[in-house]
Amino acid sequence: MDLETAVVRRRMVRSFAGEPLPNGLVDRMVGAALRAPTAGNSRGTAWIALEGPEETSRYWLAATDPEWRASSRRWPGLSRAPAVAVSLYSPAAYQRRYGAPDKHPDGGGPATATWPVPYWVADAAFGVMTLLLEVTAHGFGACFLGNFRNEDSVLAAVGAPSEWRLFGAVAIGRPDGSDRRSASLDRAGPARSDRLHAGRWGGTAGPRPRERCPDPRS
Ligand SMILES: Cc1cc2nc3c(=O)[nH]c(=O)nc-3n(C[C@H](O)[C@H](O)[C@H](O)COP(=O)(O)O)c2cc1C
Repeated sequence: MDLETAVVRRRMVRSFAGEPLPNGLVDRMVGAALRAPTAGNSRGTAWIALEGPEETSRYWLAATDPEWRASSRRWPGLSRAPAVAVSLYSPAAYQRRYGAPDKHPDGGGPATATWPVPYWVADAAFGVMTLLLEVTAHGFGACFLGNFRNEDSVLAAVGAPSEWRLFGAVAIGRPDGSDRRSASLDRAGPARSDRLHAGRWGGTAGPRPRERCPDPRS
């Protein structure tokens, strides 16, 4: 599958068939996600690949509450995912990297709280997106699950050392075709033209004169 097709086809999948993924594929896809860029080549992101019910249940039991599992219409389909990749990031790794002489000759590096954009979060997101596209390109489905509660429990369940934080998790498997359309997709929202501006805010997107915007392939 070419990249453009994978980008267009990718959709969050929340109901999986339970069969295992081909042997080694999870490591391969998560390994590809490690190729996502990281600021200053800090490589301050990491993954825990969980495969099979015994391993994936470590994530689910830590990340979700019994009440949610008892009542959510999504739980059965999500819980069948044969793999879950847990995405971690380390703010301390960026503090160390940006305190290195080539980045910060005075030493120390900026305090993580002062960064206008927390690169550790950006890098974790780049990695997750890479994994979502990899999974799609291999003909499987995935859903990103955010970190909105129980972070400490998830980190303990996967044995993460203390400097690591939870970004989220990616459930991976073969879509079983019974996903119900997410209500989020049907919400009214900003139009494409409100989000894609050419030249400046409010500029209408369209072809530019060739001399201003040469085709990089020519
Ligand atoms: C930061 C972030 C957090 C998300 N968290 C969840 C989540 O916890 N559970 C879930 O089912 N979907 C989650 N999603 C998926 C979005 O709801 C979904 O991407 C959006 O509705 C668009 O649908 P699509 O990805 O299928 O195109 C999350 C997406 C992002 C980018």
